[in-house]
Parts: sequence; structure tokens; C-alpha cells
Amino acid sequence: MSHKIQTLSGYIHEYQKSVLEPEAFWSRIAESFHWRKSWDKTLEWDFEGPDVKWFVNGKLNITENIFERYLYTKGDTPAIIWEPNDPNETNRIVTYRELYEMTNQFCNALQSQGVGKGDRVIIYMPMVPEAAVAMLACARIGAIHSVVFAGFSSSSLADRINDCEAKMVLTSDGNFRGAKQIDVKAVVDEALEKCSCVEKVIVLNRTGQEVTMEEGRDIWWHHAIEGQPKEFKAVEVDSEDMLFILYTSGSTGKPKGVVHTTGGYMVYAQYSFENVFQYTQGDVYWCTADIGWITGHSYIVYGPLLSGATTLMFEGVPTFPHAGRFWEICDKYEVNQFYTAPTAIRALQAHGLEPVEPYSLQSLKVIGSVGEPINEEAWHWYHDHIGKGNCPLVDTWWQTETGGIMVSALAGITPNKPAHASLPLPGIQPIIVDADGKELTGNNVEGNLCIKFPWPSILRTTYGDHEKCKNVYFSTYKGMYFTGDGAKRDHDGYLRILGRVDDVINVSGHRMGTAEVENAINEHPKVIESAVVGYPHDVKGQGIYAYVICDMSGRTEESLKDEIKDTVRKIIGPIAKPDVVQIVPGLPKTRSGKIMRRILRKVASKDLSNLGDTSTLLNPEVVDDIIKGAGL
Ligand code: PRX
Repeated sequence: MSHKIQTLSGYIHEYQKSVLEPEAFWSRIAESFHWRKSWDKTLEWDFEGPDVKWFVNGKLNITENIFERYLYTKGDTPAIIWEPNDPNETNRIVTYRELYEMTNQFCNALQSQGVGKGDRVIIYMPMVPEAAVAMLACARIGAIHSVVFAGFSSSSLADRINDCEAKMVLTSDGNFRGAKQIDVKAVVDEALEKCSCVEKVIVLNRTGQEVTMEEGRDIWWHHAIEGQPKEFKAVEVDSEDMLFILYTSGSTGKPKGVVHTTGGYMVYAQYSFENVFQYTQGDVYWCTADIGWITGHSYIVYGPLLSGATTLMFEGVPTFPHAGRFWEICDKYEVNQFYTAPTAIRALQAHGLEPVEPYSLQSLKVIGSVGEPINEEAWHWYHDHIGKGNCPLVDTWWQTETGGIMVSALAGITPNKPAHASLPLPGIQPIIVDADGKELTGNNVEGNLCIKFPWPSILRTTYGDHEKCKNVYFSTYKGMYFTGDGAKRDHDGYLRILGRVDDVINVSGHRMGTAEVENAINEHPKVIESAVVGYPHDVKGQGIYAYVICDMSGRTEESLKDEIKDTVRKIIGPIAKPDVVQIVPGLPKTRSGKIMRRILRKVASKDLSNLGDTSTLLNPEVVDDIIKGAGL
């Protein structure tokens, strides 16, 4: 049964119900799913712990809500349409029945390789249907998947494998990305030198390139599934059993493993998908994210498949082989809902209208944005030239930790307002607080964004470190989930997200902890100290600016800057490579030794107004040196 909201008054009504009687509200939605055993209690919660449980003691398997639910009515309907990186390669259309059989076969393969309920499995794969099969097969056998974006370096991969003590890694020989071919298996091999927990590696043959296979450990995907039955009885799990771990960056230390559990995540991923995008059966939906991010989890795989939708999966990049590729794909498959990131819009906008003109884009009904604030110029370009002025644009605000979209227009229902995520989904109670945690009620207020009541897909913990979860999200403001974002409620009551208020920067929609980048820079033997800040970047939203104190002996400034960028690329991955490295004689510090990042942010943004009083610094003279060094 669908719970799709149809009108604005319907939304207001549902929202009110969801706040007045949240348990009754979610219970009604959850009842439309298949549970092996119904729950005893809808919700138990305490944000102090934190301890949140939804659909307590309910038993289910999320994949039964995809396969067993749709097999008979949608067996021949495309579940996944796969468009390869190279448009000359044959595409693939995977029906619900085929996906079911592929998943079952892979479940049997996983089991015969020794993976069972509760085991952690790392997925480090390209955007191919087998990546979705890998996730679904883990879910079907009750194993916990942790997808790692295949652009991360071997040491980032090793950190994640070790943190969750994964037993198995699923990967490919290589990966096609635009004109490049990436040696994925070689990265895995390097990572595994540092990981003793991994027993088996299953390798998908994607590029056909030569790889080393370690005897007893590595097995080809096609060998692993050979002769395996296409039937598999899903393993029953508890509503609060872990479904997946997804690592994300924060303001301190290494990325943390955000934990999502089964029942609540399932209900919210499906409900939010159907409502935000107003998906209608038969539509073709396309989200351009990678499955390595939460957007790929909730809105390429789980949300659409739980809705019986046709989800398009694209292996490539927006500009290969030409800057009209996205639009070509939209026309080719008559895409109805298109969901992408502002950074992609800005990058394509820079190519002008010529690459858009050959395509009609007339199938589009809804266009969406996610990952970072969308600036008004990009909003209008997207709305006018891609949506042709008549597609609702849903600017969806959410996070890895929230599991699903929290604040967004419902397509065609909520009036559009450029650059405003707009209104909360039913069940979501966002509030804006001041620095002391006092709720700022009414309109025309600005402050930090918190959520005061649990929703089904809220993170439950950070893997292996519950204290961290408590400290990062539930301690800043007592009794509330703190998002780390600033927000404004305008005169109409619409929310506008202003960006991070902590030491997290958002580069091309990817979250990056400044401390994480600094730690990588500091690995370079010539680096003495560093400080990293974000600055406005025309395409990426924010760029990475690194101030570095170095021992210059035996190096030129230019060579050292390149070496530092390369160090970060190797340690974290290309997405973390600083855009600017400035070698400085010192960093501005307070008398207690704290780096004054505010000043560094100002210089990086080329804005020297309101630098504030620098005379109280331990070393006020470095500020002038830094300004001069930045060429200002
Ligand atoms: O700062 C917000 C920004 O992305 C952060 C979450 O990043 P991540 O966990 O990687 O998830 C990205 C995809 C859901 C948020 O704290 N962000 C995400 N969507 C928006 C946004 N900022 C403004 N507007 C958005 N629509």
C-alpha cells in the first residue's frame, strides 16, 4: 500500500499527525511492509544514551520487501537499468526476477565462502549491477555491508576494513571512470597488507585487466557463483540488527562508521523516496550518486527497489565522452526523475548550453539536488535549462547519519523556492537553536540546526565507539540530535541550509574533515605543522586550502607543494587533494595555542574585512606574512 502524499493540505495533515502521534503515524506506514513477526512496541528512545529503537522485536528481512514483495507483480519490470561508462559498450537491463536470482546466487556464494549473519563485508566496487547485488545479498543473509567509495586510497580502505573487522572484501579487477582505467584490485591488495581480519576476497571481472590473485584468499566472482542455486531463503533478522555501516568524515580524528539498522531504515528509505520524488509506477528514476555514499544506498538501491521502481545506475562521469552525457542518458531512457549534486550542475553549467541543446529532456518530471547548498545561479540554470521551467526542483537536505531525506519539498506539492530545502518531511522535527541551545521559534531566525525527536532511520551508533556517537551528535545540545549545519527559517517558515558550522568542509558534495586532511599532510616528512580550511570554490562549492609550515631544505616551494598534494592523494584519495597549498612561516595562534582558523578562512576566501583584533595573538606578525604570501 502506498503512502504517497498527494496535495499540500495532505502534507500539512500528515505532518501534524506525525508530530502529535509519531508512533501511530510510523506504525501505520510500517504495517504496509512484510514482517515475519510484527513489533511489540513502535519506539523506545532516549537521546541521552543515545538509545533509539524502532519497531522493537519486529523480525524481517529487508530484501523480502523487495523480492518476495514484487516478484509476482513485477518480475519482468526493469529493476536496474545500467548505463556503462563507455556509451559504445552494451547496456544492461536487469529485471526484478533477474536481480532476485543474481542476489540469491550470490547469497549462496557468500555463505559457501564462510560469511554469515552479523559478519562485516566491505564492498569496494564500481557502479555496476553486481555492486547492488553485493549489498542486497549481504542484507539477505543478515551480513552487514560497508561500502567504501572506490576512489578512496588503500590506506583509507585499510582503516575502514580494520575498524569494522571485515571478514570479506568484494571488489573488481579494475574500474572504468571517464577516459581512465583504475587498478582497483591493486589498491585492495595494498590495503590487505595491513588487514589480518580479511579471509576472502571476491573479484568481479569488469575491465579484464591483469591482476594478481592470491591463492586461498582471492576468488573470481564468476567462479564463486558457478553452479550456485538461484534460490535462497532470506535470513530473519531483528528490526534493530545492523543493516550497514557507512564511514563518514567528522571534525575530529578518522572517519567514523555510522550504523544503520534494518526496520527503521527500510521504512524511512521507502517512504521518503516515494514522497519526495513522487515516484509513479512505470517511471524511470535516476540518481547520479555513487553507491559509496549514503545517497547511493538510500536513493539508488534501497528506496527505489523497496518501492518497486526502476532505478538507473550510471557507471561513468558527467563529462565523458562529452559534456552532454547526462542529458543524452535522460533522453535515451526517458528518465522521469533526475537527482544529482550542485557540483555536477555547476560543472556542466560551465560548458554552456551547447551540450544541452541536442536533447529534448521532455520526459523529466522532477529534478533534484543533494549534498551541499545549491546556490541560486545553479538552481535557476538547472530549473530553466534542464527542468525547462516546468519541473519541480527538490533541494533535499540530509546526511549519512539521518539515513534519508529530512528537509525537502515534495515534488509538485510544496511550492518551490530557490536555494531553500524548504519544509521537513512528516516525522521530522527540526529546530533552530542559538549558541546556548535555546530554541529559536518563529520565522526569520538563524542558528544551528538540530532535530528534537527520533525518526526511523536515525543513526543508532558509531561502530565500535558509542561514546563518540554521543559526543559528536547528542552532547552539544542536551536532548537533541545536532546536525553540524547552520540554518535559517525565513519569513515563510521555509528552511535554508547555510552549510557546516564545524570543522567539516564540503568539497563537491563530499564531506571532508579538516583534521583528517591535516593528518595526511603531516605525514610528509618535511611538514612541521598544517592547518586546513575550506574556501568558496566556483564548481566544487568549497575548495581545500592548506597552510603548511615546512622544513624547506633541499626543496623548492613548488616541488614541495606538489609533494604535499600528492601525499594527501595517496593517503586519503584524489577527492581530498588540496586545491591550494600555501607555505607559511607560522600559523596564527591564541595564547592557549589554538589555531585561529577564522583568520585563515578569511585569507583563503580573499576577504580581509573584519579580520578582528589580531593583537592578542601569540604571534600577530604571522598574519601579515600569511596575507602577503596569499598575494593579497
Ligand atoms: O552540510 C550538509 C550537506 O552535506 C552534509 C551531509 O553530508 P553527507 O553525510 O556526506 O551526506 C550527503 C548526502 C546526503 C550536511 O551536513 N548537505 C547535504 N544536502 C544538502 C546539504 N547542504 C545544503 N543543502 C542540501 N540539500
